[in-house]
Amino acid sequence: MKWTVRQKIFVCMGLIVLIIGGVHAVTKQVYMESQFDEFRKHEIDAAYLSAPPGEQIEILKTFVSGKMKLFVLGNLAFFIATGLLISLWISGILTLPLRKLVAAIERVAQGDLDVNVPVPSNDEYGKVIHTFNDMTLRLREAEDARRRLVADVAHELRTPLSIMQLKLENAQQADQSVSPEMLLRLQDEVIRLGHLVEDLHVLSLAEAGRLALDCKPLDLSAKLEQIVDDVKMEAEENGLEMSFHSKAKPVPVMADARRITQVFINLLTNAIRYTPEGGKISVVLEDTVQERNAVYTRVSVTDTGIGIPAEELTHLFDRFYRVEKARARHTGGTGLGLSIAHHFVRAHGGFIRVASEPDRGTTFAVYLPAGE
Ligand SMILES: Nc1ncnc2c1ncn2[C@@H]1O[C@H](COP(=O)(O)OP(=O)(O)OP(=O)(O)O)[C@@H](O)[C@H]1O
Ligand SMILES: [Mg+2]
Repeated sequence: MKWTVRQKIFVCMGLIVLIIGGVHAVTKQVYMESQFDEFRKHEIDAAYLSAPPGEQIEILKTFVSGKMKLFVLGNLAFFIATGLLISLWISGILTLPLRKLVAAIERVAQGDLDVNVPVPSNDEYGKVIHTFNDMTLRLREAEDARRRLVADVAHELRTPLSIMQLKLENAQQADQSVSPEMLLRLQDEVIRLGHLVEDLHVLSLAEAGRLALDCKPLDLSAKLEQIVDDVKMEAEENGLEMSFHSKAKPVPVMADARRITQVFINLLTNAIRYTPEGGKISVVLEDTVQERNAVYTRVSVTDTGIGIPAEELTHLFDRFYRVEKARARHTGGTGLGLSIAHHFVRAHGGFIRVASEPDRGTTFAVYLPAGE
């Protein structure tokens, strides 16, 4: 049976009162009887027997009440002391988890997040301690994420900055004027830095839930057709075939055209980047699919590329996450694209699913709430 703290306190206090009250009543009764026996043995003498009945009763009353007064006072002092000691002991036991929790809270307040209080029971204290442990775990995770973010941002900023610094120093040492090619490469690095800073800014807004969307009715089939047209050239340059198919036309959705374009550009650029020459990329639009008890419009971007190992899929939408194989390809991505896409789609009330098989290909399915 699960006992709440309130029930435990109620039962303990009730038992103390019952035991003390009961013991007091019994001892009082026994003591009183023993005093009558005492009186019978030692106080009944010739003077008592010769006294009239009224006086005899008075003598008995004086004897017994005198003894009882002392007994009651002694008994009271004893039971008050015992009651207080037992209450102290029980309250100590009942508040032990609370004291452990307070000690842990003080450690957290001093910045030590590495605390875990053992959960002693299923009562209110147990629940509070459980919630506290969950909370510190989340704080630890948030702190780890913050450290990782700072390290990643520093790393990503350092690379283009050191490239620019090196080039400028070389030019300075050689006492040469900067050639147009070098200027172009410097400008590339500056653009890369600019994109990175912009991506980080948008991502931090999205993560804080402060991304302002300018949602308007949009024909998704026309929009996708235009996006596919825009990136088709790049795909063809990489020896890839790109197609778009819509199961209905028009497909109305409420969306921020600029953000949604960014989502699909991200997915299509990835598909181009991670599909070897000769591969195929297809974009399929379905106007209504039933998912999670709601109706969505689904866009599937499928490629026949290098794929993603199953164990990497869970981290795919994390900031700066890049699959090892992709890192080795020197493709120059920062690993922010999917994270941004995920947040943009979520801000629209949708979600992204991914299915992939290494060396066979990948499908990213974007679900957006269907309708006007
Ligand atoms: N279509 C795909 N096929 C295989 N791997 C993919 C595909 N799309 C994404 N990935 C993997 O997921 C990782 C994260 O993708 P994401 O778009 O977030 O970053 P990125 O493309 O490396 O850089 P960015 O988009 O910021 O320029 C990629 O580095 C790659 O390893
Ligand atoms: Mg990308």
